[in-house]
Amino acid sequence: MVRVTSEVKVKKKKVAWGITGSGDRLTETVETMIKVKEEYGGEVEIKVYLSKAGDQVVKYYRLSDVLKREFGKVWVEVNSNSPFLAGQLQSGKFEFLLIAPATSNTVAKIATGMADSLLSNSAIMALKAFVPVYIMPSDYREGVVVTKLPDGRDLKLRIRKEDVDHVKKLMGMDGVHVLEKPEDIPLVFEKHFRSQPARSPEARFDIY
Ligand SMILES: Cc1cc2nc3c(=O)[nH]c(=O)nc-3n(C[C@H](O)[C@H](O)[C@H](O)COP(=O)(O)O)c2cc1C
Repeated sequence: MVRVTSEVKVKKKKVAWGITGSGDRLTETVETMIKVKEEYGGEVEIKVYLSKAGDQVVKYYRLSDVLKREFGKVWVEVNSNSPFLAGQLQSGKFEFLLIAPATSNTVAKIATGMADSLLSNSAIMALKAFVPVYIMPSDYREGVVVTKLPDGRDLKLRIRKEDVDHVKKLMGMDGVHVLEKPEDIPLVFEKHFRSQPARSPEARFDIY
């Protein structure tokens, strides 16, 4: 007797996650994304793209192997169009682009329309094609912050008005959603992939 089994293969939706060369909240962002992958992994594939500096900083923080183990292949910037992320975003391959954490450099480029690096180009090309872009800047609010160095020591840094002005410019940009902290990332996935959000009203968030 021949037994016929039918297997329904669910085609996963894809999300592009860009990591720039920001040490600030890098570890927390990776931890959050691993939790997101565990929750949405059955239906969503997260593809990881690093800027050149992102590749360097991820290595400083000893997160390269973690990223590969959790997310599979990790793509590293060669130039603004390679890997071919911008083109794939424009052809609708991804639900959205998330850049987290985003350096003041990448934020400045996107805010001023400069598309000469992998992630700034991908963000601007995505926006031209009506694909949503979520950005979590490292320099969100003016003032002094204490960030962690790769060896665990604290580093006091000034968040400059000029960098915050770029973030404000992003907030006013059609199609761009600025996230303040890693904890905001799961809400983005909930918005895109859960039709019935199971949240309390207090947990409201400005991307809606
Ligand atoms: C260990 C390390 C940590 C860094 N952390 C930050 C950061 O938190 N925020 C930031 O804006 N730049 C940070 N930088 C500097 C950026 O990596 C640098 O400006 C780079 O040119 C950014 O390129 P990208 O925006 O293409 O990733 C850091 C650099 C190093 C080496």
